[in-house]
Parts: sequence; C-alpha cells; structure tokens
Amino acid sequence: MTYPKNILIRNIGKLYGINEEPYSFKKGKALAITGIASNQYLYIKDGTIASYGPDSQCAITEPHTPIDAQSGIVMPTYVDSHTHIVFAASRDEEFVLRLQGATYEEIAESGGGILNSAKKLELTSHENLYISAKKRLDQMIAMGTGSVEIKSGYGLTFDAEIKMLEVIKELKATTDADIKATFLGAHAVPTRYKDNRDTYIDIIINKMLPYVAENQLADYCDVFCDQGFYTVEETAQILTAANSYGLKAKIHANELGVTGGVQVGVAHDAISVDHLECTTESEWQVLMSSDTIPTLLPGTSFYLRIPYAEARSMIDYGLGVVLASDFNPGSTPSGSMHFIQSLGCIYQRMLPIETFNATTYNAAAALELQDRVGSITLGKQANIQIIKSLSDLNQIPYYYGSNPTDITLLRGKIQ
Ligand code: NIG
Ligand code: FE
Repeated sequence: MTYPKNILIRNIGKLYGINEEPYSFKKGKALAITGIASNQYLYIKDGTIASYGPDSQCAITEPHTPIDAQSGIVMPTYVDSHTHIVFAASRDEEFVLRLQGATYEEIAESGGGILNSAKKLELTSHENLYISAKKRLDQMIAMGTGSVEIKSGYGLTFDAEIKMLEVIKELKATTDADIKATFLGAHAVPTRYKDNRDTYIDIIINKMLPYVAENQLADYCDVFCDQGFYTVEETAQILTAANSYGLKAKIHANELGVTGGVQVGVAHDAISVDHLECTTESEWQVLMSSDTIPTLLPGTSFYLRIPYAEARSMIDYGLGVVLASDFNPGSTPSGSMHFIQSLGCIYQRMLPIETFNATTYNAAAALELQDRVGSITLGKQANIQIIKSLSDLNQIPYYYGSNPTDITLLRGKIQ
C-alpha cells in the first residue's frame, strides 16, 4: 500500500517551538522563551509545515497519512552542530586507561587519542567508513536529530582527510537529514611532523585547503586551537587561508585551557567557537560584542570528567548558547541530544526550556540553517519529532538516559 505524501498529525498534547516572527538568536532571558500551544494539529504538505492550530478546528480534506500523537509532544528535530561521526573504530581501550588514571592529554601525548583514530582510519576503506557512519547517523535520527555537522580530522594526511570528506559527501547524498561538512585537517599534529609542525601546516594551507575548496568538499574549516594542539598563531594562519577560499570558521576552543581560542575565532568571524570549558569573563565579553556563537559540549565534560562550560553564568551575563553532542570515539561516544539536554540541566544549571532552544532554534544558526529548520514555522522544512509518552518539555531531560522519540519526520518523510 502506498501512503499519501502529505501528513496530518492530530491529537498533539503540546506543540513546542512555534515561531512566526523573523529569526532572532535567543540570548540571555530570551533563551527561556518559546512558542507553545496545547491540543493542536499539524499538517505537512510537500515536505514543509503547511498549517497548525487547534485540533478541534482541523479541517484538512486532502488525502493524507494520519498520525495520532496520543496527547504527547510534538517539537522540531534537534540540530547537532558539532560531531565527528566518521571514524574507523571504537577507542574503548582508552576508556579503560582513563578509568585506571590516565588523562585525555597523557593518552594523546603517547600516540593515542586522535592519532590512534587516524592510524585506524587510514587502513579503512571509504565503503566501510560510510557504512559505520551511516549507522551512527540513522541512530541519531531515531533519537530525534535532523541536522548534523560532521567533521573530518581523523585523516591527517591529504588522502585520508579527502577520504573522510568524500564519505561525508556520500552521507549528504543518501540521507534526509541536513548535513554540513567541516574540514578539520588541524585536529592534531601527525607524529612525523611533531618537530616540524610548519611543514604540516603548510600542507593544510597549500594542498588540502585548495583541493577541499575547489571540490566543494566542506562548508566550514575547523582547528583544534588548544593547549597541546594548535596555537593561536597557527590557528590564525589556517583560518586566514580558509577565509580566502570562502570557507567560514567553526573552531574547537578553550577546552583544555584559556589559550585565546575564543579571541582568534571571533577575530576570524567564526560562525561558532565550540567547547569553552575554560573561559573567563574576558571571553564572554568578546563573545557579547560579536556574532560568533558559543557552542557548549557537555557530553565531553561528562565523559572525560573535566569541568563543564559555565552555561548558567554565560546566559545570565546575556549570552545565547548552543548545545551539541560532539559525538566522537575519544571524548564522548554518544549522539543522544536528549542526554545532552539532561547534562545541560543537571551540570550546567540550564532550565529544560533553555536546553530545548539551545538544541533546536539557536542550534540551527550554528549551521546557518535558521531559515529552514529549528522551529515550528509555516513554510519551514517539516523536521519534526513526535514524543507520544511525554506530556511536558521538562520531562525530556528529567527522564535521562532513554530515547523518548517515537517518530522522526525529516522534510516531511517518516524516518
Ligand atoms: O571535540 N577536542 C577535540 N576533538 C574531539 C576529540 C576527538 C578525539 O578524542 O578523538 C573533541 O572532543
Ligand atoms: Fe569536537
């Protein structure tokens, strides 16, 4: 039996994330505000949100596929603006080493960490990388995620970095999720360039970046600007080159130390600076007077047992934040945005509604998708999740550790 493409969701207990105003990134107190309506219907036509309103007034007569939300929640899908889901193998041995007392940095210094992932990725075929990444992506979609940024950075040679970006390109072509690709050649310094860092940076700037740009393999350029990884000066050099190829910056900053990552990101008009576990008021000040988005990754703090970014203070200071999963094999192997909401509440003292906006409405801007996704808005892509068993938004982070999403719709298609 074939079902009509148009979909009518009836019996919605609460519809969250309604916004018919022009887009405005939510900062400070505004982060705790969203449009909410009870007892609604929502109609999807040609993949977009065609109408919604009181269920009692629903008058759709066109052929459609019906869905009963059973008085549950309907809300936009998550936008996960920072992930590393293309990788060759698990690093569970490092997980055990850390339990035995080693730190993330010690493991990285002894050739583990990112370099360990790079070694494994070099030996893995495009096809196998695609198959495993697609499984992760599909699992994330089943957990309510609809838009995902994916980084390279486990290649660290020309061929392997390009292989990763080609895998991301194939993911883009074979999913209904919105995918953005980020080139992260400067994720770690390969061992053979340890005493000759400039040579590797030269390869990034003069070989990798031109090829990536010419073949349109990336939307953004990232650098792991942090203690023990890339310096502020090196980051500036790489971002300047990336800008000259039309690639906007989106960087890892201030995870392991207060090293000037935020400042160099802002100076290069980065779309976002991500991590921010180690910041002071001067970083917040710089962010306040810029359009660069502070993106926090509480999964990493949880998994590595490092301090959390000070979300509460940053929001009270007036900033708007985004939360993302950072799904990767080393520092946080999970793509559950429900759990990210729980961590945001429990460890970062955000309100459930704030974590909702930080993973949907605000997060859309961190991928420049705010005109298409992130809210319930007429004409926007029908990227919607249905949670039948819950009756209030607060219950999503409250019931931590489960996947309450029953149905994910992307571009109006049931996944
Ligand atoms: O975002 N911080 C840098 N990169 C990743 C970790 C990558 C890894 O350990 O494999 C992160 O946490
Ligand atoms: Fe990361």
